[in-house]
Amino acid sequence: MKTLIVYGTRYGTAAEIAEEIGKTIENKGIEVDLIDSRSTKNYDISHYDMVIVGSGIKIGKWTKGSLKFLEDNKSALSDKKVALFVTCGAANMEETIAEGQEKYLDEVAEKYLSNKPVAMGLFGSIYDPNAKHGLMYKLATKFIIKKGLDKQGINTSKRIDYRDWDEIRTWAFNLANMLE
Ligand SMILES: Cc1cc2nc3c(=O)[nH]c(=O)nc-3n(C[C@H](O)[C@H](O)[C@H](O)COP(=O)(O)O)c2cc1C
Repeated sequence: MKTLIVYGTRYGTAAEIAEEIGKTIENKGIEVDLIDSRSTKNYDISHYDMVIVGSGIKIGKWTKGSLKFLEDNKSALSDKKVALFVTCGAANMEETIAEGQEKYLDEVAEKYLSNKPVAMGLFGSIYDPNAKHGLMYKLATKFIIKKGLDKQGINTSKRIDYRDWDEIRTWAFNLANMLE
């Protein structure tokens, strides 16, 4: 049994989630290959039983590389177990989870997959007022994300990691069970 995990990331969050998913599946005795979607050109996925594809979200969008992977492999993916995940700000708050699920997972599955995914994971993100990720990150953090957190009375002076690692591991564990 072999699993491929392809991730698209801009700030590293999806990469860390993909790694943890990979470790969890490997711990169940399943072979895992983990690759950045930017390195998937002409990648042969024929020998995988399951393919997990995930991305961070920026202004409503997956990374170009991860979408290109889905597009390029649409027919090859049709006879495999496919799971999708995203990490996004929408997952951090109860009120925006349903919208995130619909826009970043349901719509992508509908558009890029010919079969229904076996699982879809909407995972939290990181708020980091001191991260050095460039101007766009800085502006979004200061003027959009911080404002939302301030409104909820959350202390925005420090980094907050909204990823629920138990949830992520459980999600991966359940995927591994599907291969047994
Ligand atoms: C410039 C910018 C735009 C973002 N746009 C969205 C968005 O439209 N929707 C959302 O839910 N989260 C948004 N986020 C939060 C990211 O999706 C989140 O930080 C994610 O974990 C990033 O994943 P990555 O580090 O793998 O790229 C945005 C973050 C930044 C910095």
